[in-house]
Amino acid sequence: MQSTINNVTVIGSGTMGNGICHVLAQAGFNVNMMDIKQDALDRAMSTIGKNMDRQVSKGALTEEAKQQALGRIATHTDMATAVKDAHLVIEAASENVDIKLSIFRQLDELAPAGCILASNTSSISITRIASVTKRADKVIGMHFMNPVPVMKLVEVINGYATSAEVTSTIYKLSEQLGKVPCVANDYPGFVANRLLIPMINEAIISLQEGVAGVTEIDTIMKLGMAHPMGPLQLADFIGLDVCLSILNVLHSGFGNPKYAPSTLLVNMVQAGYLGVKSGEGFYKYT
Ligand code: CAA
Repeated sequence: MQSTINNVTVIGSGTMGNGICHVLAQAGFNVNMMDIKQDALDRAMSTIGKNMDRQVSKGALTEEAKQQALGRIATHTDMATAVKDAHLVIEAASENVDIKLSIFRQLDELAPAGCILASNTSSISITRIASVTKRADKVIGMHFMNPVPVMKLVEVINGYATSAEVTSTIYKLSEQLGKVPCVANDYPGFVANRLLIPMINEAIISLQEGVAGVTEIDTIMKLGMAHPMGPLQLADFIGLDVCLSILNVLHSGFGNPKYAPSTLLVNMVQAGYLGVKSGEGFYKYT
């Protein structure tokens, strides 16, 4: 097994992928960011630069350290080239089972034998992902939170066959990124989303039942529980389609009606009201 991690490849350059590349590069790792299209990679590099500029303007990063960090990120559209020297691959592609399984089959073929394969999945079983590889002991979940440069948590998820050595390596690496790792086992939603997403669903059911309005529900949770965002604003931020898909994983995984998605959530997703990314959810975004 690869015990010293210097070279990390991140598959996917969207919000989570570019955030993960940002923190890796800032912590001194050599980063290879891979996506299917070069324009997605160009947009991701520009986002990383802008997010580092926020840190520079706050005095949390020097301009020189920013340039060095950006210089540690290479971009690729070809997976074989992107992973050929990887000690660790972190997959942060779309939250779709078929896409993830196909990526892990390819990674298993293309990445060096000792390379650890991690997934940033928010709800897909790590054991299932590992089952399509011949290295299930080296497959693990590394669930970062959005926005990655700001949020301190990495939920480290052990699949059924993940080795203790791999867990320990990923735990230490998460600490090197300035994060606080917490280890969980592979059950639907792990811990973060098993607790968060039913709360969001209950907020939507409360709205649907007319218990209170959007602003009231969010203000009650923000001021009453010191949450940085109310559950409906957070649902918009995460994406209502993502919330629905995680609820479906919980509902089918546990077979318990308490996880059934609210009708309002299903309707909003079907109507294309997905939150920030579509311009409207519980709030409007211009
Ligand atoms: N990169 C770098 N810095 C960023 C950033 C980014 N992408 N986004 C925000 N920041 C920084 C800002 O520069 C600012 O820095 P200072 O404190 O030094 O001034 C700080 O973060 C706060 O940002 P803002 O002032 O712009 O706004 P805010 O105070 O409203 O905070 C927020 C924004 C950090 C997003 C905050 O609202 C928050 O914590 N929200 C909850 C986020 C959350 O719960 N995330 C988890 C979602 S669930 C998930 O990700 C997992 C899943 O599987 C669904």
